[in-house]
Amino acid sequence: GLKKKEVNVLCLGLDNSGKTTIINQLKPSNLSLYGPLSDDWRHVSQTQTQDIVPTIGFNIEKFKSSSLSFTVFDMSGQSRYRNLWEHYYKESHAIIFVIDSGDKLRMVVAKEELDTLLNHQDMCSRRMPVLLFANKSDLREAMSSNIKDKPWHICASNAVKGEGLQEGVDWLQDHIR
Ligand code: GTP
Ligand code: MG
Repeated sequence: GLKKKEVNVLCLGLDNSGKTTIINQLKPSNLSLYGPLSDDWRHVSQTQTQDIVPTIGFNIEKFKSSSLSFTVFDMSGQSRYRNLWEHYYKESHAIIFVIDSGDKLRMVVAKEELDTLLNHQDMCSRRMPVLLFANKSDLREAMSSNIKDKPWHICASNAVKGEGLQEGVDWLQDHIR
C-alpha cells in the first residue's frame, strides 16, 4: 500500500502531567486492535497504564494515524531532565505539550516551560504545530481548558500605539446583550 509519511513528534510537559499515559493510549496495542478505549477493552488499557512509571531521560514510541507514521519522543518532565528537550526541537515536526489541569500550584511552572520552548531559537522561526492537552480533565479540581459558559475573545493589543483596541471594543459591542 501507500507508504505513510514519517514524522517525529516531541512530547513535553512537566513530570506527572500524563505524557507517557497519553502516548501509551495511542500505541498500537490499544488503537488498531481494539479501538481507543472501547468499553470491552478498557481493562486492558488500564493494566497498561498501571505499569507506567516516571520516565527516565526519554522513551521512543511509534504509532500510525491514517496518513502518518509517528515516532514520538516521550521526554521525562522532571526538572533534572528538562535540559534534554531542546536537543530534539530541530528534528521534530510537531510538539505535544501536556498540562496537568489539576496541578494549580505548578501551572505557572508549566507556563514558563511552554514560554521557554516557544521562544527557543530552534522553534520561533518555524511554523511547527503545537498540540496542547489539558490532561486530567476528570479530576474534580481540574481547571477548565476553556471558558465554556461565557462568550470570549482574545485580541492582541498595543495600547501605546492604540493597536487592536478597536477590534476588542467592536467584539464587545457585538456580544453585550
Ligand atoms: P514523567 O515521565 O515523570 O515526565 O511523567 P508523565 O508526564 O509521563 O506522567 P505519567 O504518564 O507517568 O502519569 C503520571 C500519573 O498521572 C500516573 O499516575 C497516571 O496514571 C496519572 N494520569 C495520567 N493521565 C491522567 C488523567 O487524565 N487523569 C488522571 N486522573 N490521572 C492521570
Ligand atoms: Mg513519562
